[in-house]
Amino acid sequence: MSECTPLENRVALVTGAARGIGQGIAHLLAQRGARVVVADVNAEAAAASAAEAGNDSYGIALDVSDRAAVDQAVAEIVERCGRIDILVNNAGINRDAMLWKMTDEQWDAVLAVDLSGVFYTCRAVGTHMRGNQYGRIVNVASASWMGNIGQTNYAAAKAGVVGLTRSIAKELARSQVTANAVCPGFIETDMTRGMPEHLFTAQLEKIPLQRAGQPADVARVVAFLASDDSSYVTGEVINIGGGYKL
Ligand SMILES: NC(=O)c1ccc[n+]([C@@H]2O[C@H](COP(=O)([O-])OP(=O)(O)OC[C@H]3O[C@@H](n4cnc5c(N)ncnc54)[C@H](O)[C@@H]3O)[C@@H](O)[C@H]2O)c1
Repeated sequence: MSECTPLENRVALVTGAARGIGQGIAHLLAQRGARVVVADVNAEAAAASAAEAGNDSYGIALDVSDRAAVDQAVAEIVERCGRIDILVNNAGINRDAMLWKMTDEQWDAVLAVDLSGVFYTCRAVGTHMRGNQYGRIVNVASASWMGNIGQTNYAAAKAGVVGLTRSIAKELARSQVTANAVCPGFIETDMTRGMPEHLFTAQLEKIPLQRAGQPADVARVVAFLASDDSSYVTGEVINIGGGYKL
């Protein structure tokens, strides 16, 4: 048996793939043979990430919280590539604050990108996949969905992603479309590098495997869920945290 099923002839849309975890995912999917559409608010970085991925991948400017833009982007990808087989919802932001200090703007911004954005792409791409009777949807949630200090907005959005994923898994199963969520723990990216050093160190101490995760650690699990090796796996929520649990 080969090490893993290749993704040749698959078309993948990965959001927030200009850097960090999304970039790691886009590059691994391309390495395994997929043509990847790298979607990001940062158009220039998206184009650079896609060029590095190779395999005819390309970058597009997309704000996932803009419903009309998502619908238009999905239609354009289908027009250009013929179809979308794999959707990875990775775009996400955090705006941490304690409950009593959290502003409406912080709440709205995180819910718009981390939850509504996932809904918009799942609706547009899921409808298309239903027509094709094939698809793999992987939503990047977070260990924080269980609840975390300073993250009422982020945890609520990510818990929403878990509920959304489990619901669409049931709705789309008869169309041979699977949907799963991954929950990274503490992964070294720009999102976590911005933390004060004492908090970064404190997080590391809580991880049984004794190291921060890397984007590639997440990418390998996502690539499995995006492949036919996971054809009998749907509606699952997989922790990728080195044993870390909130
Ligand atoms: N880093 C971690 O420890 C960690 C842990 C758990 C979950 N996550 C999740 O993993 C995902 C990626 O995180 P990361 O650490 O790589 O973050 P990051 O900030 O390094 O990268 C996020 C990318 O998303 C893009 N983006 C932001 N808003 C967008 C929007 N509205 N539309 C499209 N693209 C947008 C950014 O431009 C950036 O390229 C996020 O959903 C995050 O919540 C990260």
